[in-house]
Amino acid sequence: MYVVQIASECAPVIKAGGLGDVVYGLSRELEIRGHCVELILPMYDCMRYDHIWGLHDAYRDLWVPWFGGAIHCSVFCGWVHGRVCFFIQPHSGDNFFNRGRYYGELDDHMRFAFFSKAALEFLLQSNKRPDIIHCHDWQTGLLPVLLFEMYKYNGLWNQRVCYTIHNFKHQGIAGADVLWATGLNREPYYFTYDRLQDNFNPFALNFMKGGIVYSNYVNTVSPHHAWEARYTDIGYGLGHTLELHQHKFGGILNGVDYEVWNPEDDRYIPYHYSPENLQDKVLNKKALRERLLLEESDKPLVAFIGRLDQQKGVHLVHHAIYYALNKGAQFVLLGSATEGGINSWFHHEKHHLNDNPNCHLELGFNEELSHLIYAGADLIVVPSNYEPCGLTQTIGLRYGTVPIVRGVGGLLNTVFDRDHDPNKPPEERNGYVFYQTDFNALESAMGRALDLWFNEPEEFRKLVLQGMACDYSWNNPGAQYVGVYEHIRHK
Ligand code: ADP
Ligand code: GLC
Repeated sequence: MYVVQIASECAPVIKAGGLGDVVYGLSRELEIRGHCVELILPMYDCMRYDHIWGLHDAYRDLWVPWFGGAIHCSVFCGWVHGRVCFFIQPHSGDNFFNRGRYYGELDDHMRFAFFSKAALEFLLQSNKRPDIIHCHDWQTGLLPVLLFEMYKYNGLWNQRVCYTIHNFKHQGIAGADVLWATGLNREPYYFTYDRLQDNFNPFALNFMKGGIVYSNYVNTVSPHHAWEARYTDIGYGLGHTLELHQHKFGGILNGVDYEVWNPEDDRYIPYHYSPENLQDKVLNKKALRERLLLEESDKPLVAFIGRLDQQKGVHLVHHAIYYALNKGAQFVLLGSATEGGINSWFHHEKHHLNDNPNCHLELGFNEELSHLIYAGADLIVVPSNYEPCGLTQTIGLRYGTVPIVRGVGGLLNTVFDRDHDPNKPPEERNGYVFYQTDFNALESAMGRALDLWFNEPEEFRKLVLQGMACDYSWNNPGAQYVGVYEHIRHK
């Protein structure tokens, strides 16, 4: 099959979180399975150009109809670790992708509506006719709407769309101006409950809802989150829309790219290891301590890696730091800021805690350091409020770093409590799970994990090995996505 992935991120060139990992990892898996894959991405000024190979002159010019006129774009072609990527760069308009960051601009809805339109124009004008267009998250929610309302009459009549929702919190809320910009001019037709009208605000359009309504298949990134999105508030108002479209909605658990995330040959860690020579993991712990100026001692090291956002349970992350220190452990946090208030809170804590030889808070996004933390830590804490899938726990398992998670979303599909999981035999359990959002719940899971580390090292080692034996590669999810593609292609 010929598959085109269209997204706002692709690791490691454009990565704010797990979306980037998934777009890259799934594309590689599909290629391994013999499919032809291309990616279409925005050409941001702030992306990591050092990871793109062969990005020279523009591959082609593109005129994208916009607000009754047209915006001139260049499309550049380059390879991202072997994947063919097309980057769209508009020359006029409002410098959509030259803002020094990927998201968080006031006109984000216009930026990504433009990107969706430009991606379709690129397919059309380059005579590319993929079997499957795979769109991701709200940024490309408008694309299936444009495809099936406009472009199928222009030549893209045979394409099928798989739409993957990574986060229901961000849905792409916009006004009618987006319809005029993109050429979807029949305003009342789109402002209906069964099309794009937002379920909360009848005067707003909702890109993600458009993606759900118009795509041939819709999924979120774990089976449990698919259930939560339909039946709890975690669908952020889209539960009923999902119910109306339940015949084409499911949950496919994310994989981890086992080539990128491989302790046996990770270029960002100084000592490679595997279950057979697990003793070398501790050398990375030493290297991590040296790098972050932590004291060398016989203590467990607990980590958190993630966006500092309400989603990630920041109040519990904060508590976990102090709890770990009180229990005689060390703590390392690598957090990128998404919300101003939370950011200044952690900046204040960093100022205060980084003098402590057992604690280090690193604020910002640092891919290289994240690898060393996964390799060097003993435990990784993921106390999310909600988590569609989560990757830090599965990457942690791959690196022999035992996860302590809150039992929500994909965390519940991937981590099984060592002491009392109702469905897994003891030899298949791999971490610690708690359910409530209060400090006691977190403490009880962290306490059990730290006690095991301190008092029963052999048992802890066994748990580490059980985690490393889990298979969260792209193998299974890759097969499931191919199954979906085949299914919608022949409908
Ligand atoms: P989300 O997509 O909600 O941010 P995931 O757990 O799915 O969460 O994926 C997060 C990804 O981003 C992982 O690859 C993780 O290692 C990485 N990551 C998160 N925060 C940082 C950071 N501050 N620096 C480096 N990598 C980070
Ligand atoms: C989102 C979710 C996260 C998921 C990631 C990749 O950002 O917050 O849970 O793992 O996308 O699908």
